[in-house]
This record gives sequence, structure tokens and C-alpha cells, in this order.
Amino acid sequence: MPDLSSNLAGIKSPNPFWLASAPPTNSGYQIMKAFDAGWGGAVWKTLGVPVVNVSSRYGGVNYRDKRLIGLNNIELITDRPLADNLREIEEVKKYFPDHAVIASLMVESKEQWHQIVKDVQNAGADGIELNFGCPHGMCERGMGSAVGQEPKVLETIVKWVMEVATIPVIVKLTPNISDITEPAMAAVRGGGDAISLINTIQSIVGVDIDNFVPYPIVDGKSTNGGYCGPAVKPIALNMLKNCAQHEGVNIPISGIGGVENWRDAVEYFLLGATNVQVCTAVMHFGFGIIREMIPGLERYMVEKGFNTMDDMIGKALGNVKTWENLNLHYKVTASIDSSKCIECQLCYTACEDGAHQAIGLHKDGSRIPYIIEENCVGCNLCSLVCPVENCITMVRKDDGQKHETWKDFGEADKQPNTFNDERAGGIHHWVPEPSDALKK
Ligand SMILES: Cc1cc2nc3c(=O)[nH]c(=O)nc-3n(C[C@H](O)[C@H](O)[C@H](O)COP(=O)(O)O)c2cc1C
Ligand code: SF4
Ligand code: SF4
Repeated sequence: MPDLSSNLAGIKSPNPFWLASAPPTNSGYQIMKAFDAGWGGAVWKTLGVPVVNVSSRYGGVNYRDKRLIGLNNIELITDRPLADNLREIEEVKKYFPDHAVIASLMVESKEQWHQIVKDVQNAGADGIELNFGCPHGMCERGMGSAVGQEPKVLETIVKWVMEVATIPVIVKLTPNISDITEPAMAAVRGGGDAISLINTIQSIVGVDIDNFVPYPIVDGKSTNGGYCGPAVKPIALNMLKNCAQHEGVNIPISGIGGVENWRDAVEYFLLGATNVQVCTAVMHFGFGIIREMIPGLERYMVEKGFNTMDDMIGKALGNVKTWENLNLHYKVTASIDSSKCIECQLCYTACEDGAHQAIGLHKDGSRIPYIIEENCVGCNLCSLVCPVENCITMVRKDDGQKHETWKDFGEADKQPNTFNDERAGGIHHWVPEPSDALKK
């Protein structure tokens, strides 16, 4: 069996699955229940000066028949007194000495940072996570994402923390910024041991169109919230990749955002995350999802011949290039397996209106479309909209012999550089006459 044990900057856990700081980690009761179910670590609901929360706190995005593909919240940090949380941290560590308990923190002054760091260390926390990510409420008070968006301030606070920290410190970043590597490097300069990303994305998930107020509604009013869940995973993966590939961000990364199953987690590991943290999926389905995640990861590792987590971490990073380094001679076209086709013609409509008019309909009454190969640019759209798995596949058409990139084109003076350049990619590519659009 592969070894799932994980080590994030010295914080050890029996597996790489942690709970993110959020409602599922609000109390020792929940964290003990989660550890008992199999979770390897938990980042405690952010501690600080306790807040007063509003009632009605979440908004959801449902997409067709799927509930909660995105979750929005306007909740703040913990509303429970620090002493209660510290007592519970101590108790959890007594029962689960080998599991990772991380204290997430957010306070204002240097004195408060020093005090709370010492407090959670005394309580037996294995690590600290600095919440520089919360994009609602706390940022209005100069904390959370207000810090994460100001690399210099972030660096200063990390330095304050490092003055007294005796356990590893993770800096949690906000995605509400144009270049995530800037606060990541500030975390490195400040002396942080690891970073975690992402916290939630500033959002409004919808509007009550009868009462003219966005969700969630608090006595007829609303405010922007933080977005998370499956919908944010692509944004988080890209930010992870940006940090993991950056030479200046040379500390381990804890990946967060939309992880729901072992497959999601593997994607994070392959792009450089040492472990993953989960919030929305647990809020939706409960702690029990871990029972599928662990054997799923084990099976995947066996299949790929990975013995330890380190064998897998970052494996996909070498295959992520800048656009100018992609092979311009690689060519695929769509192919329809007529034995699988259910004749819905979604592919035809998508290609006809949204792509390159490369799918035709037979005039003999057959409803199975066909590909007009010479028009197909290999964009993948039809295969993405087709509701039948593997009914439309993309088939390689070049012989694999030629490899030339945009960068190579530049060096060989082959890049189009005038408006009517004969070297344009679409030169002589067939398109219908404009008036053909009106022919019935
Ligand atoms: C209701 C709610 C409360 C949250 N509270 C905190 C918090 O106190 N501290 C924190 O660092 N992140 C907090 N988060 C953000 C999560 O830790 C996590 O970064 C984010 O939800 C993305 O992960 P997910 O897609 O698995 O939910 C909260 C998220 C939600 C939904
Ligand atoms: S979308 Fe797929 S199933 Fe529907 S007509 Fe096209 S090939 Fe057939
Ligand atoms: S891959 Fe794109 S261009 Fe080719 S048939 Fe499908 S939708 Fe049309």
C-alpha cells in the first residue's frame, strides 16, 4: 500500500486531507468527529477577537439539476471566546496526537498577534495559519483580504508572527488580486513556512428580482460575500500553478478550493500542492466523504506506481507552458461514433453558431450529424457539448513529425505582423458567404 502520510513544512498528518478553516472546524466536537472519520488534519475556524455574525449568511449557485456548484458566505471569523477554543484544541490534541491541528488566526495589532500566537502554541496546536483572505466584513476592518491585497503589510505581519512562532506558519492568501505570486513572495520574505490558497472569491451570487436585493438577505439588505465550492476550482488550480512554478515562491503550498473527491485532490497534488483543504464539500455532504477519498487516492497511487506523496507532487507542472511554447503543427479533428449518437444535434448547433460550421446534417432524413473535416479547427466544442460520453472524440491528424511554436515562428520570422498578412492562421480557411445565413 502506498504511504499517504503528509508533511507540510514540518506539520505531519496521517494523510494529505485537511479540513479548511470554516464552519466544519468551528468546535472540538466537529474536529474529533472528522478525525474519527479519517481526516488527517484540520484548520480551526479562524480565531481572534470574537465577532457578532448576521443571520442569513449563505447564498448558493444551483446549475440546472445540480445544487450548490458554488457557495457564497458573509460569515466572519469565530464568534466563540478564545478560551473555549484553546481548551478544545488542547483536548483534541490529547485524543489525536498524530493528527494535524492548525490554528487559523486573524487579529489587528502586533501585541494581539504576539499574544494569540503564544496562546495557540501553549494549547498544543501543530501549526498556525494566518487568515489574510477573508474578502467580506473583516476586510472592512483592515484585516483578512485587506492584508492579503497589500504585500508590504502582509510581509510585516508575517514578520511579527515569526518573532514569536515556535511552530510552522502557513500564510493563507486571497484570490482577490491580479497576481497571486506577489503576496506569495511577500509571505516568503516575511519568513512564512508555507502558503495556502485560495480563500474565497469576492462575489454576489444572485439577486432576488422581486424584492431587488442580492442574496443572502439580511432584513432586506445584502453585502458582497466570498465564493467557494466546485465552481472556484479552476481559478484556484491556476493560482496554485502560478505559485508552484514561480522561482521566488520556494515554500510548500496547501491547496484549497472546490475539492470534493480524491480526483480533485490529485489534480492539486500534480500541480504542486503538498496537501489539500476542504470546506464546501464537507458542508454539503458531511465528513463521510473522506471514506471514499482515502481509498481512491490509494488506488490511484498504486496504479501510477507512486509510493509516497512526494512521488506525485508537482508531476504535471513541467507540462504547463506559456502559450508561445505550444506546438502549432499539432492538429486534431472531431470524429462522431454514430453507434453512440442519440441524434440530439447539439454538436451541430454548437459548431454552426458557436464555432466553425464544420458539422453537417444529412439531407436523407438521418439525424446523425457528420464532420466536415476540412472546416474543423479542432476546437473541442462539439465534444464538450455532446451529452454522450466518448461519442465525439478528437482524433490526431498530423504525423507528429513537426514541432514548431509561436516562439520558433518569431525566431524564423514567420509570425504574421501586418493586418492582411498572408501568414495568418485562418488564411484560405473556408467560411460561408454572409448572405448564406439568410438562406432557409
Ligand atoms: C461559511 C464559510 C466560512 C468560512 N470561514 C473561514 C474562516 O473563518 N477562515 C478562513 O481562513 N477561511 C474561511 N472560509 C474559507 C474556506 O476555508 C476555504 O478557503 C474556501 O471555502 C474554499 O474552499 P472550498 O471550495 O473547499 O469551500 C470560509 C468558507 C465558508 C464557506
Ligand atoms: S451531440 Fe453527440 S449525441 Fe448529439 S447529435 Fe451530436 S454526436 Fe450525436
Ligand atoms: S471541434 Fe470545433 S470546429 Fe471541429 S467540428 Fe467540433 S465544434 Fe466544429
